[in-house]
Formats: sequence, C-alpha cells, structure tokens
Amino acid sequence: MTVQATATLPQHIAIIMDGNGRWAQQRHLPRTVGHAKGSSGVRGLVEHCAKLGVKYLTLFAFSTENWNRPADEVSTLMGLFVQYLEKEMSSLAAAGVQLKVIGDVAGFAPELQTRIQAAEKATQHNQTITLVVAANYGGQWDVVQAVKNWQAAHPEASADQLTQAQLAQYLSTAGMPDVDLLIRTGGEQRISNFLLWQSAYAELYFTDVLWPDFDRVQLEKAIYWYGQRQRRFGLTSDQFLKAAV
Ligand code: IPE
Ligand code: IPE
Ligand code: MG
Repeated sequence: MTVQATATLPQHIAIIMDGNGRWAQQRHLPRTVGHAKGSSGVRGLVEHCAKLGVKYLTLFAFSTENWNRPADEVSTLMGLFVQYLEKEMSSLAAAGVQLKVIGDVAGFAPELQTRIQAAEKATQHNQTITLVVAANYGGQWDVVQAVKNWQAAHPEASADQLTQAQLAQYLSTAGMPDVDLLIRTGGEQRISNFLLWQSAYAELYFTDVLWPDFDRVQLEKAIYWYGQRQRRFGLTSDQFLKAAV
C-alpha cells in the first residue's frame, strides 16, 4: 500500500508520541532508553511526511503534566531535546524543514531556550514542511495564554468583542491550519491535553503500536485510513456527497 499525494492527504498531522516507557520495560531496559529510541525515529518520519506533501507535522514531546515524572526521566527528556536541536536540526534544515516550538518555553532552562530560538530562526524561511514541537505544552494552557495575549493587545476591548477567529490568532498555532489527522500511538484513547482547540474536527487515529515502533509503514497506514473518512463538518452525508461533486 502506498499513499499518493492526493486531495485526501492531511495538510496537518499531529501525533501524541506515546509508549516509549512501555517499549523499554518490555525489553527490561530503563524507560529512558525508550525515549532515546523514540526520538531517533523522528527524523525519518519528518522526512517521509515532507516527501508525501504533508505541510505541517506537530509532535507532542512534553506535556505540562510531564514535569510530575521522576526527576531523572524529566532530565533525560530535556537532554534529548537539546541533543535533537544540536544533531538533527542541520539535516532537517537542509531538507527544507521549518521548526517551530509551541508551549510554555519560559519553563525551560535558559540554554535550551536559546537553542530553540536559534533553531527557529535558522529555519524560518524553509517551506517544505513545518515541524511543530509541542514542548511544555498543554491545550488548556494554550487557550488561557491566547485570551491573556488578546486582552493585552486590546486593552480597551471587552470579552464580548472576542470572536473565535480572533482568539485563534493568539493561539500558539496562529497561522497554521487546524489538525486534520490526530494520531496517538501506545494504545490509549485519550487526548491528554494536546491540541484541544485545533483538533476540534480532527480525525482521530489510535494505534496500539508503541512510539519507537511507529515507522513509515505505520504512518502510511494512518494516512490511508484518513483517506477513507468522510469529513462532514456537521453536514448530513447526503449534503456531504453533493458538496463533493
Ligand atoms: C511518551 O512515552 C513520551 C512522553 C510522554 C514524553 P511515555 O513515556 O509516556 O511511555 P509510556 O506511556 O509510559 O509507555
Ligand atoms: C502524552 O503522553 C504526552 C506526550 C506524548 C508528550 P502521556 O503518557 O503523558 O499521557 P497520559 O499520562 O497517559 O495521559
Ligand atoms: Mg505515556
């Protein structure tokens, strides 16, 4: 089965990369080994999305709730993030990848913040695909920060004047299309405070495959499944079929 770049290709894929810990535990390895293995597969998937013509790939790397994990696991995850920016970014940049980090970046160590800014700046004009890394991200945080920033930009305005379209401009994903296909690996069927607003009409794909085992074939399987969905956006199926002709 191969996926062609067609009208049914999702423009924006978002992935909850879950199952690293269990992948390692099944092999009697420390959980951190699972994180390392999980992060090593990211580059290939980004390149494959770019090849297929997907324009936005958002990866959930670290949630606002993940700070509550054991300190050594949190520091491994931070270390991998730094390593990623150091080692993988130059090849991704060469492949035309634009990097954007969304989340409460101010919560990270200053060194990591500097690296994030540098990687974003170095890739800002790339156009093949936008890789969005959600780090210290929470969907509820995103909505609240958007309201605060809207209010700061319109100090005289009252909340009555706030529209959905305006608020969307203050979300961390401003300017990007909403999520078309939301994938979660690792068997759980929940959103875990990911892109709550932006996934309002996303097609949800849950797979038992653990993140370190999620490869190009698995990705194409998800995209193929997406291509079979009828996205009705509130219409009846008759209306949908008429609109499609
Ligand atoms: C996802 O894998 C990675 C992060 C949350 C950072 P997990 O670490 O949650 O793996 P499981 O769910 O424990 O297997
Ligand atoms: C979601 O995975 C967060 C990331 C993948 C970064 P979790 O493993 O933290 O989610 P829960 O706790 O099972 O809901
Ligand atoms: Mg998990």
